[in-house]
Amino acid sequence: SMAEKGGFKHFMLKEIYEQPRALSDTIRGRVLSDQGKIVFEEFGLTRDEMRRIEKIYLVACGTSYHACLIGEYIIENIAQIPVEVDIASEFRYRNIPFEKNSLFVAITQSGETADTLAALRYAKKFGVKTLSICNVLGSTASREADAVFYTHSGPEIGVASTKAFTCQIVALYILSIGLSIAKGVFPKIFIKNLLEELLLLPRMAEETLLLDKKIQLLAKEVYRKPNFLYLGRGVNYPVALEGALKLKEISYIHAEGYAAGEMKHGPIALVEEGFPVVFIASDDLYLEKTISNIEEIKARDGFIITISSSKEEKLKKLSDRFIYVEGINSYLNTVLFSIPLQLLAYHVALLRGCDVDQPRNLAKSVTVE
Ligand code: G6P
Repeated sequence: SMAEKGGFKHFMLKEIYEQPRALSDTIRGRVLSDQGKIVFEEFGLTRDEMRRIEKIYLVACGTSYHACLIGEYIIENIAQIPVEVDIASEFRYRNIPFEKNSLFVAITQSGETADTLAALRYAKKFGVKTLSICNVLGSTASREADAVFYTHSGPEIGVASTKAFTCQIVALYILSIGLSIAKGVFPKIFIKNLLEELLLLPRMAEETLLLDKKIQLLAKEVYRKPNFLYLGRGVNYPVALEGALKLKEISYIHAEGYAAGEMKHGPIALVEEGFPVVFIASDDLYLEKTISNIEEIKARDGFIITISSSKEEKLKKLSDRFIYVEGINSYLNTVLFSIPLQLLAYHVALLRGCDVDQPRNLAKSVTVE
């Protein structure tokens, strides 16, 4: 009913709109920004245990796997610890020569995904310390891991994950800051700044939701296209993967995410007049490179949709449709850019008459291998 959906037409839309609140619930109680500190106990790991970690394995399925890929960039930059990311169904059957002082992190909204649980058990068998980043309280992953960090996103009903994903990014951001503090990688003032920026996120997510009408109009222009390409660099590469997955899952349009720098090695062959390419770009050191990629798509008459925190004239001029998102920092912008991508998938699926909350062949939680 409309009532259980809080007046929204679908759970997915309700959950997209719940993000400002969900994000602040993930942050609350974990961050003491005025002191430039995080609450280590929230990770079930002591500061000393965090200090000793020399290698991190991030493992998950589906959308949670994309959060891992984002986490890889964040942890390597902020905590300067080497990270390896894998899909749980692959990880569980590998022969991994685990490095000592490793931390295995399972990321799972439900805490019940069979492959993710198998990967967690595999790591435990080798005596690796394990942490679950989970949303569902008391779930199997939360019980079986040595430590658990809850995202507190609230129940997610829509099969396509939205708020759970953006809260997972925040959890990884907080984890990376914890590790960074424990290892003393950066001066206190730098950490304090990262934490203060985090506190801006819920309000900025609220602002970003105001793009909904604009995205709805964009959806009307593109919903009949049979293929989409999503491109980003650096931490926005996994954002592109997730944008494509969201569209594919609920609208059944073929969509592919790619690293922008890799497009010339394949996907560019598909580009012809009107072919939609979604670019995701922060106002950072990657911007110039992304603009070059956009120029290459432009030269082939592709239809360029840009989602960016940059107001660079050249970027706007090259784009057929330009979606400006007020940014915070490159890491947290991944959360903000995900919002218009979720809304685009939602509106396109709606226009195509798809069952947004219950897409065919998909399950909310995959409890069998
Ligand atoms: C299913 C869902 C996805 C989810 C994935 C992993 O495929 O449809 O939305 O990302 O499982 O689920 P988890 O609960 O482990 O995050």
